[in-house]
Amino acid sequence: MIPKIIELPKIYDKRGNLSFFQYPSNLPFEIERTYWVYDVPGGEKRGSHAFKEQQEFIIALSGSFDVIIHDGKEEKSFSLNRSYYGLYVPKMYWRRLENFSTNSLALIVSDKPYNENDYIRDFEEFKTLANEK
Ligand code: TYD
Repeated sequence: MIPKIIELPKIYDKRGNLSFFQYPSNLPFEIERTYWVYDVPGGEKRGSHAFKEQQEFIIALSGSFDVIIHDGKEEKSFSLNRSYYGLYVPKMYWRRLENFSTNSLALIVSDKPYNENDYIRDFEEFKTLANEK
């Protein structure tokens, strides 16, 4: 699988709209962990790393930010700015979150519990591993 935008259901309602995701209809994995990134100061970047095994789904629940994905050869930028779609990131893709708007809220769900050993935090090491495959 490759990184891709997943559109979520939108239940329009004059009382306020509602969106959701659930496995397996909207998400290609079962959720083991949920975390969020907020109060990001202007100009900061988060998450310059890859995961050996875990997959993630990233949504801008509020505001906007960009997710820059690198596959070991080239990079691609995805703009997230609506709460009704998100970016699916398979394992072994380098990803960086940047260009956060004021009050943006990044929601991230993962198929694995937190494990520092699953992180690749060195870009050169990532490129070597990614290009071995
Ligand atoms: P990290 O994933 O490096 O943040 P980012 O990629 O957004 O820059 O996590 C930052 C710190 O938070 C790190 O020391 C580990 C801790 N952490 C947890 O304890 N549990 C978690 O689920 C996550 C995502 C991070």
